[in-house]
Amino acid sequence: MDSKELIRKYLEFFKAKKHAAIKSASLIPEHDPSVLFTTAGMHPLVPFLLGQPHPLGKRLADVQKCIRTTDIDSVGDPSHLTFFEMLGNWSLGDYFKKEAIEWSHEFLTKVLGFDAKKLSVTCFAGDKDAPKDEEAASAWKSLKIPAERIYFLPKEDNWWGPAGETGPCGPCSEMFIDTGKEKCSPKCRPGCNCGKYFEIWNDVFMEYSKTKEGKFEKLKQKNVDTGMGVERTIAMLAGKKTVYEIETLKPIIEKIKEISRINNPDEKQLLSMRIITDHLRASTFILGDDKAVAPSNVDQGYILRRFIRRAIRHGNVLGIQREFLSELAVIVLEMYKERYDELYRNKNFIISELRKEDDKFRKTLEKGLHEFEKIAKATISGKDAFLLFQSYGFPFELTKELAAEKKIKVDEKEFDDEFRKHQELSRVGAEKKFKGGLSEASEETAKLHTATHLLNEALRIVVSKNISQKGSNITPERLRFDFNLDRKMTPEEIKKVEEIVNRKINEAIPVKREEMSVEQAKKKGAQAEFGAKYSEKVSVYSIDDFSVEICAGPHVKNTSELGTFKIMKEESVAAGVRRIKAVLS
Ligand code: ALA
Repeated sequence: MDSKELIRKYLEFFKAKKHAAIKSASLIPEHDPSVLFTTAGMHPLVPFLLGQPHPLGKRLADVQKCIRTTDIDSVGDPSHLTFFEMLGNWSLGDYFKKEAIEWSHEFLTKVLGFDAKKLSVTCFAGDKDAPKDEEAASAWKSLKIPAERIYFLPKEDNWWGPAGETGPCGPCSEMFIDTGKEKCSPKCRPGCNCGKYFEIWNDVFMEYSKTKEGKFEKLKQKNVDTGMGVERTIAMLAGKKTVYEIETLKPIIEKIKEISRINNPDEKQLLSMRIITDHLRASTFILGDDKAVAPSNVDQGYILRRFIRRAIRHGNVLGIQREFLSELAVIVLEMYKERYDELYRNKNFIISELRKEDDKFRKTLEKGLHEFEKIAKATISGKDAFLLFQSYGFPFELTKELAAEKKIKVDEKEFDDEFRKHQELSRVGAEKKFKGGLSEASEETAKLHTATHLLNEALRIVVSKNISQKGSNITPERLRFDFNLDRKMTPEEIKKVEEIVNRKINEAIPVKREEMSVEQAKKKGAQAEFGAKYSEKVSVYSIDDFSVEICAGPHVKNTSELGTFKIMKEESVAAGVRRIKAVLS
């Protein structure tokens, strides 16, 4: 059975039990600033668990794309992934423990055909906030699960939620498949990560709400919230020992083997391959979400940056010295495009952002690693870790990971202090620094920046009004410009574009900079970079009324400074995206 079939069977099963199937929500939660990502199927349903009536009724089921950053350090073990799909069924004040457990058991044993003898379950042991869950245990017993395979565990293990700081939560009952592996120790039990017990499903009995003060109050309705991990369940159905061997992950591992030319990875290499696989899937889904999050230094964008940069670093461990994540992303989106059509719609964004981030990071990775070796003493000071962050683009967690490999510590507090200090100092220049990087703000890059604006307009005149920038990268030697076009440019078009740009250079037009709100800029007809997020006030650069663009600069004062413009290359970078490389002489 593959993921697609499991999902179909699950939804059919619960439809037959009068559940309405709903669509997967965005990975970026709405109205919940306390969490960055949707971590479970219940997340988008919180208002309904709290009592608001759902338009489709009291019984719901779905498959939800989820991201759990809390599991990032466990990635690489047999079962933990940061991105995964979760099947779920909900009772919004309708059925409760008995039905939920009976249906879980029926689906696992009758529909999926798991041997009931391999099933172990856990129930809440009870504490000051809620009693021991005898009700759940007795439901399992009446399904002939013997007492020795029913484990009562405390809150850390058997209480789920809330997803953010406050809200619906409750005791849960988890289902594990015994893989037949020996116990890792006499204490080994469901919940141990050694690979003997594989958790595949969790039934949460949400009758409580956690308050800001940390109290657990009874909700006005008793809900059921369940979550079944698609990847884990498929692994168990196929008799695999890890999630990396199933049909949605294996092709990525195989491609990494091909790219790195490592067919028989040792343990360390295999771990790197798994980390890349997991992080790339997570990155592809974040970039592919309609919310258009791009790598940055804050919030979701920072997590995305960490995923991408950590994957690139592990690629480096495998000897991969070129951009490769975009190739892997194509495998992911092909695989999931039926279930998540947004991935295909956002394909160009996914590919170009992965490439841009690779380009940014790869430039400093080698030097940064070299610098790391120099500073890697008994402890790494926060100042040094901050230097790696600021000058070499090493997310703090990456420095920590490198340090952990050498068994040394990093001064986290000092790093935080440095970070805060720096944030205060540089708020003013932040916009500028962010775009080009101060070190790149040379005269040559300023010229190429201005040339990029002229090129952007010339393309719109010669090729199509609908052309817009999909990405741009400037080094002192050349400009690189990505734009939407689904065919090769003709040699005549290239020549015409060059002519227009050179004409504008010869016209010696002053380059004007103004500050205004994004709205005013848009009213003025300013071009903006696709997917970019702008601060309230932006700089707008105009070259007569020929070109008007939102941009942080830097630019030259007059187009006459540019010299002669020449296109060196025009090529495809992704379906529907072309790339021009051009120089000034
Ligand atoms: N919300 C529950 C979980 O994620 C079902 O395990």
